[in-house]
Amino acid sequence: MTDHHPTPRPEEPEDIQKRNFIKTLTVAILGFITFFLTQPFVTYLFPVAKEGTKEKFIKVPNFPAIPLETPTKMTFEYMDVQAYITSNVIYDVWVVKHAADKASVYNPLCTHLNCRYTWVGSHHEFMCPCHGSIFNINGKVVGGPAPRPLDTLPYKIEGGELYVHWELFKAGIPQKLEI
Ligand code: FES
Repeated sequence: MTDHHPTPRPEEPEDIQKRNFIKTLTVAILGFITFFLTQPFVTYLFPVAKEGTKEKFIKVPNFPAIPLETPTKMTFEYMDVQAYITSNVIYDVWVVKHAADKASVYNPLCTHLNCRYTWVGSHHEFMCPCHGSIFNINGKVVGGPAPRPLDTLPYKIEGGELYVHWELFKAGIPQKLEI
């Protein structure tokens, strides 16, 4: 009796190429899937490292136009990136311009419990409506429960324009602790 088992066809170079191509493609697809699944998580865990935006100085428009020694509330736009969602957020700061190249820049939140204080020109003081904290033009506490002076922000002046480094600090404690 003759054995009719078909003899396996020797692999052609074309077959080997095809198989290698499919392997490479599979690895690439898995790589992409893994990247897209894990990347938002990594971004969530390390938002600051990913964004890099916290390190930036952001331009606060109109600095040359503001009067000297008069606290002025100024706004600027800041691009926030959180887990692939980019949003333009408007921030504000209080600026006291001392000279064309010198200023004090204050975070707009009261150091007691983060309410927004305001400059009351008639009293020549910053006042917080929530629990009555009062700060002088230098940010020093002159009344109320605020545990520390107003929080100053790092800034630089280049070409006459003001650039601010936005930071937030923990409220309700005597130390200026960045969060
Ligand atoms: S939050 Fe400003 S006094 Fe309490």
